[in-house]
Amino acid sequence: MPGIEESKCILVTGATAGIGRALALSLAKLPSNPQVIAAGRRQDRLEELKRAGLEIIQFDLDTDASSLKSSVDLILEKYPNLDAVILNAGVQYEFDFKKEINIAKLQSELNINYTSVVTTIAYLTPHFLKLSAASQPSFIIPVTAGLGIVPAVWVPGYSASKAALHSYTTSLRLQLNDTNIHVLEIIPPLVESELHDAEGTTEKLTNLWMPLDKYTEVTMQGLRNGDTIISTGGSLVWYDKYDKDKEGVIAQLQAAREKW
Ligand SMILES: NC(=O)c1ccc[n+]([C@@H]2O[C@H](COP(=O)([O-])OP(=O)(O)OC[C@H]3O[C@@H](n4cnc5c(N)ncnc54)[C@H](OP(=O)(O)O)[C@@H]3O)[C@@H](O)[C@H]2O)c1
Repeated sequence: MPGIEESKCILVTGATAGIGRALALSLAKLPSNPQVIAAGRRQDRLEELKRAGLEIIQFDLDTDASSLKSSVDLILEKYPNLDAVILNAGVQYEFDFKKEINIAKLQSELNINYTSVVTTIAYLTPHFLKLSAASQPSFIIPVTAGLGIVPAVWVPGYSASKAALHSYTTSLRLQLNDTNIHVLEIIPPLVESELHDAEGTTEKLTNLWMPLDKYTEVTMQGLRNGDTIISTGGSLVWYDKYDKDKEGVIAQLQAAREKW
């Protein structure tokens, strides 16, 4: 499998904090010296990444399809050699269905974690198919979560959005498996980041999460190897236990469809 070091230009969404920021900075230090485009909303943090030598772009994913299309078009115009995307931006909110549900928040979470991600992929894929036709590899790498395999009931929308993205990623990989587009999936366990700040649970989790440095090292190795599933810790245990065996069944289903 080709690894990320084959890539010349990598877009990382959600690169202003946590996992995305750590991966963007590590990718920029690869010996293969790729151009790394850090995307996010917070301009001050993007400026800091620019000072570290990264390209930056302000990109709000909580928007509609036509705005996403405009952003993708702008990115491809400025970076025609883009050949990898790590779809990492995400949010996580708690919902208690015995209380009033904030519908705007519920829908925004689904949009950021799923709808905008698959829409962005749909707009980028024709570009990657052109690279593929010219025998150039490219990479589509969504970031899902262990909670997409085993839902956490207090974050039902988050868990469902990640389950949806996990399923979509599997289908995308199989649809594109006769092209030069490599669909990898990063499935983090609980990792040190700012994800839980929104719900005020960060302090409680500091004893439980994987340190970001350690997580980044493992994930970078998976990206360099070109591993299809890049996971570790509790998420890898869940993937191996509940999901791995599905691969054969999915392939059988696809083979049956091809005979229709
Ligand atoms: N940390 C964990 O325990 C864990 C576990 C499993 C999976 N994950 C997944 O890993 C990914 C990264 O999370 P993290 O833990 O590193 O969280 P984080 O520290 O909170 O970072 C989230 C990133 O997403 C960006 N983002 C949020 N809303 C956005 C929007 N509307 N448009 C564009 N960007 C937006 C943020 O940037 P701006 O605010 O500047 O836009 C930030 O850069 C997420 O997909 C998350 O679900 C994390």
